[in-house]
Amino acid sequence: MIEHAHVRPEDAVEQSERRWAYVVAGVVAFMFAVIIYSGVHWAAQPPSNVETIDASRLHLAGEFMESNLGTEVRPDGSVIVRVIAEQYSFVPACIVVPADTQVVFRVTSPDVVHGFLITGTNVNSMVVPGFIAEVRTRFDAPGDHLMPCHEYCSVGHEGMWARVKVIDRQEFAQSYGSQPRASCAGQ
Ligand code: CUA
Repeated sequence: MIEHAHVRPEDAVEQSERRWAYVVAGVVAFMFAVIIYSGVHWAAQPPSNVETIDASRLHLAGEFMESNLGTEVRPDGSVIVRVIAEQYSFVPACIVVPADTQVVFRVTSPDVVHGFLITGTNVNSMVVPGFIAEVRTRFDAPGDHLMPCHEYCSVGHEGMWARVKVIDRQEFAQSYGSQPRASCAGQ
């Protein structure tokens, strides 16, 4: 008779459960390690603010009415960029910001969930109707970036994208300093 035939069934079960408990603990520990590594090393923190807005009245009044969209220079020299993501475009379709400056993006949607991502940066957020997505960043150097919608938002999704032009601080001040809200849409 082979030896393991003498192992009591309840012992075998316990041994097997203990083994699986180690596997599960290992998987959980690995996932925590990935979260900590990506958070600390890649600065990929989850969004911190939960801010709601009435999605049905965006164009009519308040922060996201049409005349308030685009880049605004604040008194402290930082800039705030307000964008609407809607089926199937971003407004404004071309965003201009100065390099080497604190930039805060505030984005919201009047219709469905869209994605907000700027290529070559860690800017990446979902845009959910009824909420304001806020992302802080800083562009070190002038350059052009694409800003595609990366959440499937129905048939026009693949044509939904905008451009982000990062230009020199002085050039920004000269070209756009006198405008209450700057954008490069239509240029
Ligand atoms: Cu908007 Cu995909």
